[in-house]
Amino acid sequence: MSHDDYPTDNPAVVTCGLPYANGDLHIGHLRTYVSGDVFARALETLGQQTAFVSGSDMHGTPVTVLAEREGVSPDEVALRYYEEHRELFPRFDVEFDNYGHTDDETNVALTKEFVRTLDEEGHIYEKDIMVAYDPAEEQSLPDRYVEGTCPYCGAKARGDECDEGCGRHLEPGEIEDPRSTITGNPAEYREQTHKFFRVSDFQEYLQGFIDRLEGTDNARNQPREWIEGELRDWCITRDMDWGIEYPGEGAEDLVLYVWVDAPIEYVSSTKQYTERVGEETYDWEEAWKESGDIVHIIGRDIIQHHTVFWPAMLRGVGYNEPRAVMASGFMTLNGKGFSKSRNRAVWAEEYLDEGLHPDLLRYYLATNGGFQQDVDFSWEKFQERVNGELVGTVGNFLYRSLLFAYRNYEGTPDTPLSEEVEHRIESAIDDFGEAVNDYSIRNVGNAAVELARYGNEYIQRNEPWKLTDEDPERAAQVIRDCVQIAKAIAVLSSPILSGKADDLWSQLGEDGSVHDAGIDVALAEPPEDFGEPDELFGKIEDERVEELNEKLRERTEAAASDDEEAEDESATDDFQPVSDDRISFDEFQDLDLRVGRIETAEPIEGADALVRLEVDIGVETRQIVAGLKQLHDVDDLPGTKIVVVANLEKAELFGVESNGMLLAAGEQADLLTTYGDAEPGTKIQ
Ligand code: MF3
Ligand code: ZN
Repeated sequence: MSHDDYPTDNPAVVTCGLPYANGDLHIGHLRTYVSGDVFARALETLGQQTAFVSGSDMHGTPVTVLAEREGVSPDEVALRYYEEHRELFPRFDVEFDNYGHTDDETNVALTKEFVRTLDEEGHIYEKDIMVAYDPAEEQSLPDRYVEGTCPYCGAKARGDECDEGCGRHLEPGEIEDPRSTITGNPAEYREQTHKFFRVSDFQEYLQGFIDRLEGTDNARNQPREWIEGELRDWCITRDMDWGIEYPGEGAEDLVLYVWVDAPIEYVSSTKQYTERVGEETYDWEEAWKESGDIVHIIGRDIIQHHTVFWPAMLRGVGYNEPRAVMASGFMTLNGKGFSKSRNRAVWAEEYLDEGLHPDLLRYYLATNGGFQQDVDFSWEKFQERVNGELVGTVGNFLYRSLLFAYRNYEGTPDTPLSEEVEHRIESAIDDFGEAVNDYSIRNVGNAAVELARYGNEYIQRNEPWKLTDEDPERAAQVIRDCVQIAKAIAVLSSPILSGKADDLWSQLGEDGSVHDAGIDVALAEPPEDFGEPDELFGKIEDERVEELNEKLRERTEAAASDDEEAEDESATDDFQPVSDDRISFDEFQDLDLRVGRIETAEPIEGADALVRLEVDIGVETRQIVAGLKQLHDVDDLPGTKIVVVANLEKAELFGVESNGMLLAAGEQADLLTTYGDAEPGTKIQ
């Protein structure tokens, strides 16, 4: 089955991954929300009926861990951030039709209904499993309460996700060398009864589904490995108090795993939208149960949830399946990861407080690189994009042509549009439609910017300022064309430059909002009269960039020194006791430890923490993968001497072979090096 091109006659649902209600948002988070908003607006511009929904993810250990740290109840923390996020999004013109939360009545009821149905259909069963337990605290350690080693790739991982390595979801009991994050002690395993969703019932279905799925390539390819291999069942209950109670027998003390009720909020949020606007305007049941075009926009760390567990759940309750999943790459800041604890971030709120217009960031986030590529943010790059494309290309074209039109004609010259320009605008409209059908947010933006580029070239080529005396008719023609190009730019750029496109709309003397205009309006007659235009975009000066960089630097440094103090205080408490398990000298001799020298270092595309190193170990050069990206300046690594375990089994991390391991100390991955000048290859004994 292949899908009809957008716009279809179906109601569309565009969703953004629910942010956990556990912290402030930075501009890295905004990438998927802005992109979701752009995609939803673009569909509407094409004429498709669309609901754009999301909500807060209130449950699970990401929220309880913070609540405990603050000494308040989980619902207090979650509601606080729910309010904060709900108010923040519209300030970036990310305008959800509904923004609910997973702990609201609608979602609690619908989640219970989903689980009951899955149970009635025989997809849920009970099983005794071993779960991590902290004997000192006398409590179970679900998800983020336990850390250890990923059994698949060997990276350091959290209880339910291998967040720094292969990205897999981990089931309770799977993590190796489990350690309690509450006490730092090794965790024990204890037997407990839990409920399981038999994902394996849907294996064949999922194999067909993944072939039909549209969206970005990463979301369509990454899950194949899981869906084609042995599909493991999914533990859907947790031994904790905060969450939605398991609705049914045999699990009275358990709540549902946060990943069960979170995606159901996509449906609940759409339902609340219908309850508000009426089903004549938008029918959630048609969208979710019959014929909707469901598009999920997410970060690529949660592909497995959206392409395996979620479609299986939808299928199990007889709902519609997602048409597309768009999974974004990650964002870095000046080449390194965003870090909440080190205050290495440009906070969303802070961006606005600087007086910067949201559209500038929307443009940067939406068009910098393909959606699935990793994107780096720096104030310099931001300045370059704003000054180059928005000021130089778009703003420049609009201002010079509209000013000319105003001064000479007080509006639109009274002459028909030329064929050349009509065709050029038609092809921009096609590019826009194609971009939506290709799920390319960047190309949605390009359609407008390329049209402006053409506009500049057109005006330059025709030099209307020379024609006003020599050939007034021709001059009027050229300016008439330019006004139409300006109008088309307003329509085509409206999904991304949501505020500025409306400003342009009023400059053109149009009534109402450009967001109510369909794509065809790009070619509709512009108003006869309009006033003197303003420049739409202002240049960002070098001094401003320096100022912004300085603020970021000061803040990051202040946080780093706080960090060190905090570490000093707690250092001794954190050390694990020395193991009682002595090894023999022979056993030690089994380790082939060598001095190495890092020759090259490059970040692994798509992995949060991993770097690919070429390491000279005297006898040969080895490729080694290490989790150093966020802790070290990757460019500084080459030339560094390190210690390598040369005879460790090979491993594959993020699809890259690691042939050996380097030694590093502690959470900060302090690299072990040599005191003197031992050459690469020297054996360590
Ligand atoms: N809160 C999750 C996260 O941040 C995302 C939930 S998305 C949904 O990773 F599918 F569950 F809705
Ligand atoms: Zn892993």
